[in-house]
Amino acid sequence: MSKEIIVSGIRPTGNLHLGNYLGAVNNFVKMQHEHTCYFFIADYHSLTTHPNPADLHMNVKQVLVEYLACGLDPEACTLYIQSDLPQIPELYMMLNMHANLGELERVASFKEKARTQPNNINAGLLTYPVLMTADIIIHKATKVPVGKDQEQHLEMARTFGNRFNRVYQKEIFPEPYAFNYGNELIKIPGLQGGGKMSKSDGDGNVINLIDTPEVIRKKMSKAVTDTGPTEPNTPPSSPVQNLFDIMKLVSSEEKLTHYQSLYASCAIRYGDLKKDLAEDMIAYLQPIREKISDIQQNEELLRKVAKIGKEKAAESANQTLKECREAIGFRAF
Ligand code: TRP
Repeated sequence: MSKEIIVSGIRPTGNLHLGNYLGAVNNFVKMQHEHTCYFFIADYHSLTTHPNPADLHMNVKQVLVEYLACGLDPEACTLYIQSDLPQIPELYMMLNMHANLGELERVASFKEKARTQPNNINAGLLTYPVLMTADIIIHKATKVPVGKDQEQHLEMARTFGNRFNRVYQKEIFPEPYAFNYGNELIKIPGLQGGGKMSKSDGDGNVINLIDTPEVIRKKMSKAVTDTGPTEPNTPPSSPVQNLFDIMKLVSSEEKLTHYQSLYASCAIRYGDLKKDLAEDMIAYLQPIREKISDIQQNEELLRKVAKIGKEKAAESANQTLKECREAIGFRAF
């Protein structure tokens, strides 16, 4: 495959969990060597919910630390904090002039937020897709590794980029598309029997990268199962299938087959499976957890990483903005 420009942002909401790692970050680690990658921490996006300044700072730091601990390499990719690039709000402002109220009001994520937080329907929330567009097209990205829930935002990014090109009669922006690394979208299920591993269903539903062995054992002991198979060779219920799915990712193949055949013969003891799976998760996460705690202490490293990221990202952003300013008619005398 030829080299693509890839952009991905993550809103800083605290610790990363195993789902973030297996579903995204470990793919980023591979992608960074194959493509031109921009990974950023979307702290401007956080402002829609008015976080308190100390929390915001801590959350940004935590994502930066954990991204590094997972193996993102500031030399191989461009790793930066969104608010270090004032070029992004400048492009956002330009794009806003061509974004229609009606089309923004129809965005599913906006309608959902307006319904769930009726007391804080601010203009930033309405124009969230415009800011996300700026994030992506400021680097002229063509691929964005995001899940299904971001599909509509990407469609808008194409619309806004194309519109800018058309209005100003310049081919500045290519079209960005969603991207599954390795063409597979793996779902990392949560521990409570439901859908994907996500913090919105509570801390008990996720295994955080920083969870201690004791915490992991405790969470796993409470993981939801069912009353057990009663007939041989019946397909597992979804909570049990979820545990098999996680096992597939962190345990050996022999162990997975072992428990699957115990299940098939109705001889499975969920307590054993959960204990065993907990130990495999602990072993799997241990090197990451150790790196997190090392990097967390290393303020100098973090300062350096943020600075390099800012410089590399600004180089690409300045180039694009220069073209936009020129196209719009902001020209030097
Ligand atoms: N909206 C994305 C999310 O909620 C985060 C995000 C912001 C993003 N800007 C981006 C993702 C640009 C990819 C590219 O997950």
